Amino acid sequence: MTGKRILLIVGGGIAAYKACELIRALRKSGASVRCVLTAGGAQFVTPMTLAALSEQPVHTSLWDLKDEAEMGHIQLSREADLVVVCPATADLMAKMAAGIADDLATTLLLATDKPVLAVPAMNVRMWTHAATRRNVATLRADGVTVVEPDEGPMACGEFGPGRLPEIEAIMAAIGMALAPDAKPLAGRHALVTAGPTHEPIDPVRYIANRSSGKQGFAIAAALARLGAGVTLVAGPVALATPPGVTRIDVETANEMANAVDRALPADVAVMVAAVADWRTAAESSQKIKKSGDAPPALALTENPDILAGLGHGPRRPALLIGFAAETQDVLAHATAKRVRKGADWIIANDVSGDVMGGDRNRIHIITADGVESWPDAGKDEIADRLAHRIAFALGASV
Ligand code: C5P
Repeated sequence: MTGKRILLIVGGGIAAYKACELIRALRKSGASVRCVLTAGGAQFVTPMTLAALSEQPVHTSLWDLKDEAEMGHIQLSREADLVVVCPATADLMAKMAAGIADDLATTLLLATDKPVLAVPAMNVRMWTHAATRRNVATLRADGVTVVEPDEGPMACGEFGPGRLPEIEAIMAAIGMALAPDAKPLAGRHALVTAGPTHEPIDPVRYIANRSSGKQGFAIAAALARLGAGVTLVAGPVALATPPGVTRIDVETANEMANAVDRALPADVAVMVAAVADWRTAAESSQKIKKSGDAPPALALTENPDILAGLGHGPRRPALLIGFAAETQDVLAHATAKRVRKGADWIIANDVSGDVMGGDRNRIHIITADGVESWPDAGKDEIADRLAHRIAFALGASV
């Protein structure tokens, strides 16, 4: 973000203190930040704090003549590359949607000709209220990028969507807004596994699972759109190969392990495949026939764990991401899995509903820093957000 100029409007909510962290992250990535603080925002952070962090004067009032003399509000709104509203409160977004300009922040937002990104944070009921839903839809139709808030416990004691996203996620969204056509992963190799594996029992039967491959294919496509060279090792699914992706079709876990090994080295590996944990101890070369009363016993043996092999192996990608499809104790299992498999992130999803095979997903990203819960979204949208998070994590310049 070197040289990019961000106009940061800090609204009045408890998440305003996180704007301070955002300023630091933006400056660390080379951007300059000029802050506008609303009257509500000033109840949570002081102009002094923002001025110290941004090393720029902080603007609070439309009627500050000194401001107008030095830099009129129109100029202030236009000399930025991007206007970021963080936190964007329900009130601020309502005013933006209605075109109300009754203070410096809202006047700037009406006067600007620059892209605007709003990062909402509010109580779950305010976020899900019909009025806020309408306002968000209006803002999006007007071209404002409204980031989806996280889900989780809130400062007010309730639980649900409305939490300010993690700083890394906000930074990824800002990177995307600053350069929507950028290829931040150009020159990087991404390895993705997707789909189920089929473990043969005999020439006509196999052990399989319900994985559709949709989420993995969407992630491969999103990484390729950001410029990565993508190798997609796909189990047996009838999905079209995304543009710009090199696809290697495999059937069994062993074939998948070999294909992954041959595709290394990689800068990032995203192991989305639902690899069968077991295969038959010995595949029958002939179709097993019904005989007598008792069904045949099926002896199983364990498959190689591809993710753990990468996580603890000598050619570990710089960023290693696994998935955890669980039906109970989703977060506890996924957190343990992250350590056990040597992954950086585990993306947990609760597959007790119709996630497998469906077009939507609800994920939790478990990192060394904790858990980030994303709201329910289409698999393509999740893939897009994830690809940008990956680019940000790899330190790709946008
Ligand atoms: O242990 P579990 O199967 O729940 O772990 C899921 C994660 O591990 C996924 O990222 C999956 O792709 C990966 N995995 C693997 N090889 C296996 C089993 C799982 O790469 N044999």
